[in-house]
Amino acid sequence: MINALKGMKDLLDKDAYYYEKIIKTSEEVAKNYGFSFINIPHLELYSLFKRSVGESSDIVGKEMYEFIDKGQNHVCMRPEGTAGVVRAYIEKKLDKTNALKRWFYHGSMFRYERPQKGRLREFHQFGVESFGNPSVYEDASIILMLVEIFSRLDINFKLLINSLGCLTCMQKYREKLVHFLDTQEGFCPDCLRRKNLNPIRVLDCKQEHCQHLLSNAPLLNQNLCLSCQNDFEILQKLLKENNIDFKIDAKLVRGLDYYSKTAFEFISNEIGAKAAIAGGGRYDRLIEHLDGKKGFGVGFAMGIERIMSILEQKKQVQSRSGIYLCALDQIYISKLFTIATKLRKTHQVILNYEAKKLAKHLENADKNNTEIFLCMGEKEAQNQSLFYKNLIKKEEKSIQIADLEKIL
Ligand code: HAM
Repeated sequence: MINALKGMKDLLDKDAYYYEKIIKTSEEVAKNYGFSFINIPHLELYSLFKRSVGESSDIVGKEMYEFIDKGQNHVCMRPEGTAGVVRAYIEKKLDKTNALKRWFYHGSMFRYERPQKGRLREFHQFGVESFGNPSVYEDASIILMLVEIFSRLDINFKLLINSLGCLTCMQKYREKLVHFLDTQEGFCPDCLRRKNLNPIRVLDCKQEHCQHLLSNAPLLNQNLCLSCQNDFEILQKLLKENNIDFKIDAKLVRGLDYYSKTAFEFISNEIGAKAAIAGGGRYDRLIEHLDGKKGFGVGFAMGIERIMSILEQKKQVQSRSGIYLCALDQIYISKLFTIATKLRKTHQVILNYEAKKLAKHLENADKNNTEIFLCMGEKEAQNQSLFYKNLIKKEEKSIQIADLEKIL
């Protein structure tokens, strides 16, 4: 038997219901905030991620699904969506005019991680990217968008924010940090690698021992230039004015290299260890870094599977919907086939092509989570009617076929 690959899952039944619910809710909210749909390829040149997500990240360092294709191109299954969306923005020459664009996307991402609860090798994200807007109001706006999505899905979270500063503050901070790191001994090999590639990523190390060594490290948000400090204060003010609880996490640098200024993460305690259910921030330098014109970008992505597992724990069940149409004798099926075709212009209809006993049909209708049960037996066929049962209200009656659309 051929099984799905480790860390990759089929999505069906209640998982598919949760998935659709999350996407539909997120899309509705994103559209209210002025975002429209963009679809980008799953496969991109490896260099796109190497240059954006960055070599100091675990993603590029250890987790890429990369290979040489038949045309000898070094390609990679996308590990995240931002780099591809930025590539599209530049490729369509939108960077030339610093065009205002707000896009949302969703779909599979691929990271060769060690699979565990809430961590897959193929997982799904819903993400948004906003271009051309330097205002910190846009950063606040996308955070509020996530808050609204989680509120509609009835999901609790903790919001962590930080500011990584602009190039000016970051360069100065880097020097201070490297100086501090040089005075400490005993960092793990990952930290030593990152110290050379992108020292601020050392702050993100999950090892307790390294975190202990970092306890007196200089902090990013205490080394901001006046303008970044001002923006960070406005962000906090906007969140407070909109009644959003948050915590400043001075060591929050995110696992990808492209961020500057605002960085944030939404954490849930409901999937075992503290897990990020969404994360994002500003990446103004990335457009230029990928050979575009100097510009502005900010966005987030949420992990659909992590949110699905919270919804599952809350046992949010799918409400009954649609019609189950069936017959007690095979001779009525073709008539029901015509009725189903008409009803399907406006209703969801499951037609069972096999005649069965009433109890068996009712059991099937229940399994299919349908709301309305319609059945034709001998008596109904004679007087052009159907047996009707509402499986929510439990009411039963006989209805004339001619009146069907009116009643339904
Ligand atoms: P990220 O933090 O790498 O950010 O991923 C966003 C979310 O994807 C995480 O918070 C988590 O919920 C989910 N996720 C990540 N890895 C896995 C995995 N292996 N299995 C299941 N879920 C996972 C980004 O990807 C950035 N592109 C976000 C962004 C958009 N920043 C600006 N714009």
